[in-house]
Amino acid sequence: MAILVTGGEGYIGSHCVIALMDAGYDTVVFDNESTGFASTGRILSGIGSKGKLLGIMKGDLLERKDLDAVFSRYDIDAAIHFAAFSQVAESMGDPAKYYRNNVGGTMNLLDAMKDHGVKRIVFSSTAATYGEPEYVPIDEKHPQNPINPYGRTKLDIEYMMDDYDRAYGIKSVRLRYFNVAGADTLGRVGECHDPETHLIPNILKSTFGDGRTFRMFGTDYPTRDGTCVRDYVNVEDLADAHILALKYLENGGKTDFFNLGTNEGSTVKEVFAVCEKVTGKKIPVSEEGRRPGDPATLVADNKKARAVLGWAPSRTLEHSVKTAYDWEVRRRSEC
Ligand SMILES: NC(=O)c1ccc[n+]([C@@H]2O[C@H](COP(=O)([O-])OP(=O)(O)OC[C@H]3O[C@@H](n4cnc5c(N)ncnc54)[C@H](O)[C@@H]3O)[C@@H](O)[C@H]2O)c1
Repeated sequence: MAILVTGGEGYIGSHCVIALMDAGYDTVVFDNESTGFASTGRILSGIGSKGKLLGIMKGDLLERKDLDAVFSRYDIDAAIHFAAFSQVAESMGDPAKYYRNNVGGTMNLLDAMKDHGVKRIVFSSTAATYGEPEYVPIDEKHPQNPINPYGRTKLDIEYMMDDYDRAYGIKSVRLRYFNVAGADTLGRVGECHDPETHLIPNILKSTFGDGRTFRMFGTDYPTRDGTCVRDYVNVEDLADAHILALKYLENGGKTDFFNLGTNEGSTVKEVFAVCEKVTGKKIPVSEEGRRPGDPATLVADNKKARAVLGWAPSRTLEHSVKTAYDWEVRRRSEC
């Protein structure tokens, strides 16, 4: 039996493949390499662990025959579904691309699971499904009113998963990530997006003396130092939560959803200071006006994931910054 990991050559998916293998699961990666990398697949293939990477299939969720091929070839027990497009700004300019890939792609996956008798799925949802916070920390009872097409595609998928459970008995766990950060502690995989919209890699990219200045948007928010507060959850802690979610479903858990965050927020200035400390460099920065659509504070309440899944995030922001920096240095020297 194996776990199918869609998007396993991407940032979070690749860390999860390693965590799965470390936990003794055999895995199969399914990825179209649109934002993920064949080079990541090669690295994953070279990792020996308790579980095996049985295969990497280059396939597209939008091609039902690709999905049928993977479910026919391997004995799939459950799916962990990362594959999606996730750039908010792009989703505003081209919502069709997002509805097609995220909603249409997930529907194909769920249909293939239904037809091949696979009854469990862990899904990458997002804090973006909540929209403008009505209160913080945000718990799972907070209303879901996403403010961009990306967030709406993820919410549509959550509804779809409820319906597929009711009608076809496919149980799902939807994990609503806050701001994912860091890289593999052993430096094997890390984050590589283009364009990069995440704060930590963007700050770190300005440490290499190539004339890049980090642009800090908004310093007049009603927060402790005027910059936005976000909840940075370490990518290896996040991967651990997927293993726990899988075990929860294996043990007969019902369809459910959980926030994955740390309960703590850091301001942009605090993250910036950690980046300067970890790299030992003075990072060039320009303070600019607010960007539209950035709420002042987004922090998770993670009590439900702690209580039901037994998840306990443990890695610090400093660890996330250090591993992200080590990864960026390595990536630059090898590319
Ligand atoms: N990174 C974050 O902070 C964050 C926060 C909240 C939610 N998420 C969600 O987590 C998931 C993973 O995010 P990530 O940062 O690792 O993104 P990523 O872009 O690095 O990885 C996505 C992977 O999915 C693959 N893919 C996309 N469309 C596909 C398709 N049609 N068929 C097959 N493969 C396809 C890509 O090639 C890539 O390898 C996404 O669903 C994203 O929406 C991420």
